[in-house]
Amino acid sequence: MKDAFEPFIKLIALVVGLLVVVTALSAFLIGIVFFVLRGGSLPDLSPDKTEMALLKPLEAVYLGLIPKEGMWKAPEWSSVENEPNAEDIKYGKELIANTSEYLGPNGKVKKISNGMNCQNCHLDAGTAPLGNNYSAVFATYPKIRGRSGQMEDIPKRINDCFERSLNGNVLAPNSREMKSMVAYIEWLGRDVPKGETPKGAGIYEVPFLDRAADPIKGKVAYENLCQSCHMEDGQGMMRADKFGYTYPPLWGENSYNHGAGLFRMSRFAGYVKANMPLGATYERPMLTDEEAWDVAAYVNSLPRPQKDLSKDWPDISKKPIDHPFGPFSDTFPEEQHKFGPFTPIKAARASQ
Ligand code: HEC
Ligand code: HEC
Repeated sequence: MKDAFEPFIKLIALVVGLLVVVTALSAFLIGIVFFVLRGGSLPDLSPDKTEMALLKPLEAVYLGLIPKEGMWKAPEWSSVENEPNAEDIKYGKELIANTSEYLGPNGKVKKISNGMNCQNCHLDAGTAPLGNNYSAVFATYPKIRGRSGQMEDIPKRINDCFERSLNGNVLAPNSREMKSMVAYIEWLGRDVPKGETPKGAGIYEVPFLDRAADPIKGKVAYENLCQSCHMEDGQGMMRADKFGYTYPPLWGENSYNHGAGLFRMSRFAGYVKANMPLGATYERPMLTDEEAWDVAAYVNSLPRPQKDLSKDWPDISKKPIDHPFGPFSDTFPEEQHKFGPFTPIKAARASQ
């Protein structure tokens, strides 16, 4: 008897067991559906996102203006001692870093310039990558320049900056000061092959905006990003010893004049994009392209010393597209040559 019922009992036990399992599973699934419907969320089983970000190669997040491979570097400063003209080179560097002390309004040697230092615009004594450095000078001068229409050697080019950027007077080409600055600049560029412009020379070219640069937007950028050092009135801050500035002026009577390179929008925008606010570099720029162009428009709309420019650009077709004074060889107005948009001017030039 007992044996005859045993398979039957086993079958019932199995069916009951299965029913319990199915019920439990359905309850679990219904529970999940309710949980999700009431706003709960299931654990994300995909690979951890923060871990992925950390594993991303560094290059993928590099935000510099240009890659740093192959960037020009100044020769090791200590190697100056091996040069026969080491004393000239050292004095030349000193004059470029502390121009005002020797040649400014209270200059110990001569009083021929406005109180700014060359280094205010040629950062780290002309060695900073995309900081308006001198790396290309020895290799590319003398050359014919469109602004003067003449062959210019290095002393002539330095004197251009004295007369414009430093709003002052020229230094005699055979003076000890001029010879020393030239010696320093030649030493800096000694490893650059003749005729070549190394990577990172001079000033960064900021991509053009598709609109005109806007001084009103630039004023806002100035107040937020520049004013803390260069001051509300743009006059900067003089050093306590009156030999140069802690923060150099950006406009007004002690600033560069309207014949200077920085008065051109592309030079100003490129200089600040890679170097300002102080601490920014080409590897870690801090301004958007728009801020760079707009702040250039603001600063270069304010009063500054004037220079007689009547002899500049004897061949008007050589004027850079952002040279802001007519006559021009094209039909675009002065206003557009000053603030842009520059793309149409460039396109018209290219098709000439
Ligand atoms: C207010 C800013 C400013 C100051 C101050 C200044 N310069 Fe310049 N300098 C410039 C700009 C802008 C350029 C043009 C760069 C360009 O067009 O890419 C330039 C160009 C030059 C060049 C030619 C560079 C090249 O590669 O062709 C030399 C050399 C030079 N400056 C020397 C000097 C010396 C020396 C002093 C000090 C006596 C000086 N500058 C002071 C802004 C300045
Ligand atoms: C934290 C202070 C600081 C801030 C903020 C700052 N600068 Fe400068 N700026 C300097 C110093 C210092 C120099 C001179 C660098 C040197 O001599 O090594 C300089 C130099 C300059 C120069 C070249 C010299 C001259 O006077 O013409 C320009 C142009 C300039 N700054 C523009 C700007 C603009 C535009 C901004 C805002 C986007 C800005 N700076 C923000 C400290 C600052």
